[in-house]
Amino acid sequence: MSVADIDWEALEGAAVAAMAKAYAPYSKFPVGAAALTEDGRIVSGCNVENASYGLTLCAECSLVSELRMSGGGRLTAFYCVDSTGAVLMPCGRCRQLLYEFHAPGMQLMTGNGILTMEQVLPDAFGPEHLEENT
Ligand code: THU
Repeated sequence: MSVADIDWEALEGAAVAAMAKAYAPYSKFPVGAAALTEDGRIVSGCNVENASYGLTLCAECSLVSELRMSGGGRLTAFYCVDSTGAVLMPCGRCRQLLYEFHAPGMQLMTGNGILTMEQVLPDAFGPEHLEENT
């Protein structure tokens, strides 16, 4: 699948649908995320908060869980929205989460247009670094 095959509207729709399932009674900031896998699946997730605020799961956490539960693989494109449907940047921790499962050339929709994983998380620490000293 090439970058030209990415259906951004389908990803946006899946992200908005996921956002509607968010559990965000504390922040009142529902988030939805959707991503395309190398084999053409769309996986999505919403944020799930907790009375113990620091235990909040970002939308990307449930997206990555669905990725694994639906067959694994790697992500080629990503789209995240807030409650108005506006594009949202993934937080720092979630950029790391996405990095773990990104396919080469993965694209992310951002407020500054479409960027690569390397552009949103430059000089990333990743699984490859764990092998250096072993
Ligand atoms: N949030 C996400 O779900 N993903 C992000 O990348 C940014 C932040 C959620 C966490 C929390 O429930 C709410 O947005 C406000 O921070």
